[in-house]
Amino acid sequence: IDLASTMTRPDLIEFEGISMVHYFTDNWEKVQTFQARPDDILISTYPKAGTTWVSYILDLLYFGNKEPELQTSQPIYMRVPFLEMTIPQLPTGVELADRLSTSPRLIKTHLPVQLIPKSFWEQNCRVVYVARNAKDNAVSYFHFERMNFIQPDPVDWNNFLQMFMDGKKVFGPWYDHVCGYWEKKQTIHYMFFEDMVEDTGREVARLCSFLGLSIPTEVREKITKDVHFDNMKQNTMTNYSTIPIMDFKISPFMRKGKVGDWKNHFTATQNDQFDEHYKQKMKNITLQLRTEI
Ligand code: A3P
Repeated sequence: IDLASTMTRPDLIEFEGISMVHYFTDNWEKVQTFQARPDDILISTYPKAGTTWVSYILDLLYFGNKEPELQTSQPIYMRVPFLEMTIPQLPTGVELADRLSTSPRLIKTHLPVQLIPKSFWEQNCRVVYVARNAKDNAVSYFHFERMNFIQPDPVDWNNFLQMFMDGKKVFGPWYDHVCGYWEKKQTIHYMFFEDMVEDTGREVARLCSFLGLSIPTEVREKITKDVHFDNMKQNTMTNYSTIPIMDFKISPFMRKGKVGDWKNHFTATQNDQFDEHYKQKMKNITLQLRTEI
């Protein structure tokens, strides 16, 4: 099925205090009442912060040895369901999660912390959050909106950046998202895209320690290689080339995977305005993100 060529882009709507599109709210009742299991692992991110990367790391850590056939037969978005997703002709995220027979279940969400279904907290599920610096996150999101037809049209970079700064992006303001989870950093695993680029092996080891996994060093090193950008870009099970809502001729899903690509997009004026606005938005928080490494 090729949905991309027939889809019309959705409008941005206001929903539960944030901007959204209906593809992530149509199944709201079932999302909010989702029954988590105690061993579920919730992978949460603002869109384009490294969700797929950390999803694949967790997938390999848990199932790379136990069920290796999964990684070659099922795309990552089937193995790690996107909880709030409802796209016509595809199973919903909740259906996919309910259908998963593996344990633990790895479940992906982009919901801001206040909208996470309460069952995850009640069951004391482990939560892995990835944050990415606002500038690179914005650039990546811009290219994603260009190629993904379930997102509103970004129009152009300048328009996109204004909307990003105004918090008018799907899943709400980046600022509130990263700060909301930061408040919970004692109980969740809060990680950074920039750290993963700097030293993936170290971040895999940290994840293992958070999850209480003892994985032999050679296995961890193999996983670190398998999740390298070039390998994930080639891998049809992780590069999203099988999903029918994106146009890779416009931009690939695995685009650059770098820290600092914002420098190729922000004009000097945009950069000054952004920095000033950022300082205001983030002045009361200890959270620090690196825009270069
Ligand atoms: P860019 O658009 O900057 O290249 P998400 O999975 O949350 O949608 O995030 C996608 C972003 O993560 C894209 O960023 C993508 O290239 C990057 N990414 C995915 N896998 C990666 C990897 N193994 N190494 C580095 N970056 C990766």
